[in-house]
Amino acid sequence: MYSFKNDYSEGAHPRILEALIQTNTEQVEGYGEDRFTKNAIQLLKKKMGRDDVDIHLLSGGTQTNLTAISAFLRPHEAVISASTGHVQTHETGAIEATGHKIISVETVDGKLKPAQLKEVIKAHTDEHMVKPKLVYISNSTEIGTIYSKKELVQLNAFCHQNQLILFMDGARLGSALCSTENDLRLSDLPELVDAFYIGGTKNGALLGEALVICRDPLKADFRFHMKQKGALLAKGRLLGIQFLELFRDDLFFELATHSNRLARKLSMELAKCGVQFLTNSPSNQVFPILTVDVIHQLQAKYDFHVWDKVDARHSAIRLVTSWATPENAVNELIEDIKRLVTTKQNES
Ligand SMILES: Cc1ncc(COP(=O)(O)O)c(C=O)c1O
Repeated sequence: MYSFKNDYSEGAHPRILEALIQTNTEQVEGYGEDRFTKNAIQLLKKKMGRDDVDIHLLSGGTQTNLTAISAFLRPHEAVISASTGHVQTHETGAIEATGHKIISVETVDGKLKPAQLKEVIKAHTDEHMVKPKLVYISNSTEIGTIYSKKELVQLNAFCHQNQLILFMDGARLGSALCSTENDLRLSDLPELVDAFYIGGTKNGALLGEALVICRDPLKADFRFHMKQKGALLAKGRLLGIQFLELFRDDLFFELATHSNRLARKLSMELAKCGVQFLTNSPSNQVFPILTVDVIHQLQAKYDFHVWDKVDARHSAIRLVTSWATPENAVNELIEDIKRLVTTKQNES
């Protein structure tokens, strides 16, 4: 049984494990005050060409989302998210548990646009309602789509005109930035969003997300917020060492390019035999629509999520490639789907 369920099904890239072993007995300060974390933060700032951002290393996506969002908002303020957004669908109400409502917006492609934000603001008129304050987006999105530079420029302009905070969940930022359709650079992001994170967990690290706070008013006391939310790890070195290794010579981008290339191969080959997709996803998650019968047959050999029911006979499945996916596993999956789809076509 080979799994295309996720990009965190494997452990960590061997270079990360080697770096952890090499540094294992060195005694360092705790809670992210160690030399590895400090160097990793310097390196990330250098990669972005920005010395004026604050960077904090946290362990996971949900933890980063809830710690950042609850730190940035006052008690009556709310989050705007696409209805498909991770904070809305897969975080067990973690944001709501910090006291902040999430206002859900229907989208066609998982991406928020200024016109939709305008509607939300218009609908929230006074102090008898929550105040929309933070716009949550993710890049790539929950359904594999990515934001263009133009889209982010427009969102950023709208947010600033309306005193909204623009927050980007980058659990899969590597995949978004390495997509063949992407026109954003890492160094563009501090200009375009108020805070974002660079996901390590889904791109070759054992765990870890690097939160970048770009706007001054959001920076204050962040380590207090982290500690209170259990996010300040005593062995912060574990995160520092991994981010140093991921960015020392751009392993981060190399790994994301690998997973994207295989996902692209998968979608291009399936499209050739007439398979339709739920979304045009240029990142490492693809969502082919298959008949329920074909899905059942595939499930005998592969593990993956059945994502969404399309109609009585069809569902979209989610196939995710990772930094560690071997090309032959993708080739085999392509052949199996092609065979099953062609057999079905011939039968009907
Ligand atoms: C876009 C996005 N954000 C956040 C998370 C949450 O990450 P974690 O499971 O590490 O809490 C995920 C996990 O799948 C995700 O896909």
